[in-house]
Parts: sequence; structure tokens; C-alpha cells
Amino acid sequence: MIGRPYDVLIIGSGGAGLSLALKLADHSVQVSVLSKFALTAGSTYYAQGGISAVFDADDSLESHIEDTLSAGVGLCDPEIVRLTVNNGKTSINWLRDQGVNFTEETNKTGETKLHLTREGGHSHRRVVHAADATGRAVSLSLIDRAREHSNIDLFENHNVVELITAPSLGEANKKAVGVYVLDSQKQHVKTLSARVIVLATGGASKVYLYSTNPQSATGDGIALAWRAGCRVSNMEFMQFHPTCLYHPHAGSFLISEAVRGEGGKLVLPDGSPFMQHFDPRGELAPRDIVARAIDHEIKKRGIDCVYLDISHKPAAFIRKHFPNIYEHCLKFDIDITKQPIPVVPAAHYTCGGVMTDSHAQTDIDNLYAIGEVASTGLHGANRMASNSLLECLVFADRASEDILSKLSAIPTPPEIRDWDESKVSDSDEEVVVSHNWNELRHFMWDYVGIVRTDKRLHRAMSRVELLKREIAEYYGNFRVTSDLLELRNLVIVAELIIRCAQLRKESRGLHFTLDYPELDNSKPPQNTILTPQ
Ligand code: FAD
Ligand code: SIN
Repeated sequence: MIGRPYDVLIIGSGGAGLSLALKLADHSVQVSVLSKFALTAGSTYYAQGGISAVFDADDSLESHIEDTLSAGVGLCDPEIVRLTVNNGKTSINWLRDQGVNFTEETNKTGETKLHLTREGGHSHRRVVHAADATGRAVSLSLIDRAREHSNIDLFENHNVVELITAPSLGEANKKAVGVYVLDSQKQHVKTLSARVIVLATGGASKVYLYSTNPQSATGDGIALAWRAGCRVSNMEFMQFHPTCLYHPHAGSFLISEAVRGEGGKLVLPDGSPFMQHFDPRGELAPRDIVARAIDHEIKKRGIDCVYLDISHKPAAFIRKHFPNIYEHCLKFDIDITKQPIPVVPAAHYTCGGVMTDSHAQTDIDNLYAIGEVASTGLHGANRMASNSLLECLVFADRASEDILSKLSAIPTPPEIRDWDESKVSDSDEEVVVSHNWNELRHFMWDYVGIVRTDKRLHRAMSRVELLKREIAEYYGNFRVTSDLLELRNLVIVAELIIRCAQLRKESRGLHFTLDYPELDNSKPPQNTILTPQ
């Protein structure tokens, strides 16, 4: 085992992980934060639109609650929604105290206020933002503060391989006591122990071929928790963002929903708008509806993409509100002040995840989950735009309260056996990993994407079973690498998504199946809960 145990070990340096680290460290708790790549590797850094919170005098907490419940189509936990929404203002003010500069505007009477933008599903302007690069502002401020904090140790390029648990004394539950972690620069697996472990590992959208997410979003925390014995819920609700830039050389780049919030129109290649045929809210309908409408038009017409057009707005307005999107599109010769932007849907957000209670506690003692990895009950069948960063902040706060109240009673973890590499060798067939990565993401896109059927899900599951066997054999024989660890986690995530999708015999929110195209109103809405054997 390396060094002394930490008080709290946080896996993930995104908005959720760093907020919790700072809140605990400010109370003299010794915290370590691990990131499998750079500290900016998570989705947080790439967030564009902003963070939802009620600031406008014409808005209300009740309206934010109602919009969230409506987007979640009967599956949000109303208590969790209320708790989260009620903490919106406090969370934004905390971020401002950490040095985040949100965009402001000065009104006619000379008063300076936060500028609020609008996104799908929100019936008011309530999205606080830093131009169109909110995540970068949040991420960099939190990293700066964490770097200067004497109670926080930061470890980049540390990829957690497995959680280590032990029986809880006199209780039925297991408890988390440490992790095995691959230092990917030294290619060495370390053993770290802590009294409390927190999963803040983000989402799993990289399980799909096309995604808005960075490389890190391989659902590691969900797979780690599942293997350790935690329940996982609502994995069928994978959110596809309607507008990812469509260009052969652009990689995955999001065109923020705020572009539609500020008046952008979705149009077909001939320039005709189509969203009103699908929903009276048009471009500002919740994401599941807009993404399905685009998918429908693309498939029906055999076109490659649709277009998002904001060129009717003054060029200065566009450049001021969307400087990052403007610059990025210009690199591909798309001047968004003059031309429509080619867009397609792409996998964006994992609404389900590791089940937690209202203090972020999982099924395993001393193991918490916060941020996109968790399934708290906030999002139900479809997350409303900009509610995710809010959830990261609110649940970092909830976890911090709970940990602070319990930490002194949690004993030092026991000695842990080191990682055993005596039976493995270096791989002589890396191609197995890259091939299986590609295959997995292709069939998830084709068979478990925006529109599903029983037959497609069955096909996908047969392939998952085959890949699981191959990957297990590979893992048993060769030294671990970052790619192998991610693949091993992704195949579990794929299985969990398919199993949840197979259990839901209706279409609800983000889960749409041609075999059961209607909402089942014959019984109360149910979460899909999977329990490990
Ligand atoms: P992340 O920020 O994803 O961080 C995950 C961390 O876990 C990383 O540090 C990663 O290195 C680490 N990690 C993962 N696995 C391991 C492992 N095995 N070992 C060690 N470390 C590990 N939401 C909004 O509310 N508003 C927006 O405007 C918005 N815009 C978005 C735009 C884009 C392009 C994307 C991709 C998402 C957007 N979202 C937005 C969603 C939101 O950004 C994410 O849900 C949120 O940032 C997740 O934060 P997190 O802290 O849970 O995880
Ligand atoms: C966006 O800016 O469109 C992303 C917002 C979100 O995912 O909440």
C-alpha cells in the first residue's frame, strides 16, 4: 500500500469532484483527487450553455421545478427536484466566490445583473453562463483554487482500475476502503486507501460512436460501482443532444442549445423550418423531442444533416454571445453570422447511473457518487438542459455535509493487499482492444440509439456477451492499460443500457422503441433498477 490513508479520496476532477474537494478541504479534511487524464479531462470543461438557477424576478422556483418534472416525464423524484432547484442561487453564488466570472448585463437604470439565457424545456430565461464556454470558466477556477489548497492533493493520469471493499463490522453492508489505480505514466498499479471514497467520474456517452463528450466519458464509475455491488438505475435514458456540428474534420463539437434559446431555427437543406410539426414549443421543446425530430427528418429524406440558422440575428450579437462557437465554426469555413450550421444529434448525457440517496450515499458504506455518474432522481426520463452542472454543485454540497458529520466515526481502513501482476504479461495483441472499442460503439449507435426495437436490442446484447468474454480473457492474461480499462468498463455500461432498455415496455422520455411507441399510462411510472448478483 502507498503512503498513509486519506480522509477522502475523490475519483474525478470535474465540477462535481472539485466542488466537493474544496468544500471538504475548507473544513480541514485531507482530500486527494484523481483524474485519469489531465485535470480538465471531464465534460465539465466543455460545458457551453450554462447552469440553471432562478434569478429573474418574473421566474420562480415553482416554475423551475415544474419544467424539470415535465422534461423528466413522470420519473423525477419530486423531493430531489425541489432540493436541487431550491439550491440554485446558493450554488451560483458559491461558484462566484471561487472566482467564476459569469456574463453580466447592465440594464437601463444602470444596474448590473447576471445575464440569463434560455434553453429547451425552460419556460423562463434562467441559465447563468460565461458566454458560450461556461464549463471552461468553472473548471479553470475550481482547478486554480484546488491547486493552491494545502489540504488537497491532485493526481493526474491516475486511472482507477477497481474499488476495494471490506465487510462492514456487524452490518450487512460492505464498506469501501480503497482503490487500485493505474499510474499511466509509470505504467504501475498503486494501492490507495481512504476512509471515504467518492465517485465523481462523469458519464458514459462514449459508449456511442458519435458523442459530444470528451474521451474520459467511458462510464468507469458506473462499472466500478456495479462490480463492487451497487445498484444502477435508468440506464436506458441516454440523452442525445440535437445539435452537434456536422463536418468531416470537426470531431465532436457541440452547438449549444442556447443558440436556439437566442432565436436559432432548425431548418431542412432547402431552408424550410420543421420543428413546429413535432411540438408547439418548436426549437425549445425538450431535447428528446428535438433529437427524435431531427433523426426522423434525416432518415426520411436520406439527408446527412439538418441546419441550425441564427444568421438573421445581428453579427455583433452572435459574436458576443457565442464567441467560442463562432471561432470554432470559422475554422471549418462556416461563418455562423452569414450561414446556417450543419448539425446532427450525438450522445450527450447519461441520465441514469449509480443509485444514491439524497446525500449522495450509494449502497456501499463510505462510498458516495456525485455528478453525472449518479442517479439521484433529479432527471427522470430526460434531463432538462443546464440542470446537470447544478446537480454537480448541489450534490457535492450534500455529500460534503454528510461526510463531515460521519468522518470522525469512520475507522482507519485495514491493510490492503497490493495489486498482483505475477500471472500477467505485456499484451502482444493490442488490436483486440482497438477492434472491440470500435465494434462496441458502432453497434450501440446502430441498435441502441435514438430509436430502438426489441430485435435491435437483442442483436446488441448478443454482441455484448461475446465481447464480454473476449475482454475478460484479455484482462486475465495481460497487464492493464488505460484503453483496456475503459473498454472493460464500456462493455458493462453497454450491457446495463441494453438490459434497462429491454425491461421498459413503453416509450418514455429518451427511451423510444418502435415496438412500444406509446407511454404506458396504465400503471404509475417505474424506475428501471438493476441489482448486481
Ligand atoms: P466530468 O466533468 O465528466 O469529470 C469526470 C472526471 O472523472 C474527470 O476528471 C475524469 O478524468 C475522471 N475519471 C473518469 N473515470 C476515471 C477513472 N477510472 N479513474 C480516475 N479518474 C476518472 N451541463 C450543464 O448543466 N450545462 C451545460 O451547459 C452543459 N454543456 C455541456 C456541453 C458538452 C460539450 C458536454 C459534453 C456536456 C455538457 N453538459 C452541460 C453536461 C455537463 O457538462 C456534465 O454532466 C458535467 O460536467 C459532469 O460533471 P462531473 O463532475 O460529473 O464529471
Ligand atoms: C448546451 O449548451 O446545449 C448544453 C447544455 C446542457 O447539456 O445542459
